[in-house]
Amino acid sequence: MEISIWDIIEIENVLITVVLVLILKVVADKWKAHKKKNTIVVEKEWKDYVLPHGPLVELSKGKLWSVTGKFTPDRNMIIYKTNDDKLIIHSAIVLDEKTQKQVELLGTPHVVIIPNRFHCRDAKAYKNRYPEIKVLCPLDSFTMISKKVDFVLDGSVERALATYVSSEEFAYIVPVGAKGELSYEVALGNGNKGLIVCDLMFNLPSSEACDWLGWIIGSILGSLTDGKQPRVSRLFRFLALTDKAQFKQWVSEQAKKSYKVVCVAHGKHITEQCQQKLSNVVKTL
Ligand SMILES: [Fe+2]
Repeated sequence: MEISIWDIIEIENVLITVVLVLILKVVADKWKAHKKKNTIVVEKEWKDYVLPHGPLVELSKGKLWSVTGKFTPDRNMIIYKTNDDKLIIHSAIVLDEKTQKQVELLGTPHVVIIPNRFHCRDAKAYKNRYPEIKVLCPLDSFTMISKKVDFVLDGSVERALATYVSSEEFAYIVPVGAKGELSYEVALGNGNKGLIVCDLMFNLPSSEACDWLGWIIGSILGSLTDGKQPRVSRLFRFLALTDKAQFKQWVSEQAKKSYKVVCVAHGKHITEQCQQKLSNVVKTL
């Protein structure tokens, strides 16, 4: 049989392809082995999570407290105390030992609520420090948050919260027209109620609470305010708003509830003229 020059070229091409594939496989295997060797998994301790933060501040006597942590932007943790001295912690922040001990004097850390996928950072530290604590998050963020945290969540807020705290004291409410997070209505005694929200409303003054990076990011995301009137950020409108008309209606309904305090995750909590300020939030949409 006669072998033509084209046959030789074809055989050569096949051989070159095989050799190239083998080389690529060897390189890929070596890279994987190198990465594995250099990835040392070290379990972080409580102190490794601590960032600068403010003091424990009481918002409603004997029921509600907040601590502001230095993030970009600054972030508030809310602590609610039930009638049987259990603590429900919204958007947990790891505190220095002295402040954390003050929290422990308030009651037993019982539930941590991860409010949305952006507020996951410190939940694992709480789970490690308080093995009995239940860590919950909203159902529609459950899959995403499960992938971000390095432990098994104890359930969704919608399905499990009422198991751990009476809804007479601490109940979730669904922000109609938005997705990704819930809001919470809490009893403050004497018939008074408070509202806890996460990223659906910012009250972050541009003049404070932000470093330069926070100022730039906040300006782009439309989350900075004058410190008096809260607003719905551009980012929330982009990521979470599903029906503006319904959401406006929902905010208007919250405004009618005469809350004594509205706790926000970013910026100043609203402790005066809650009704008026919530009504005005609708205008920022
Ligand atoms: Fe946030």
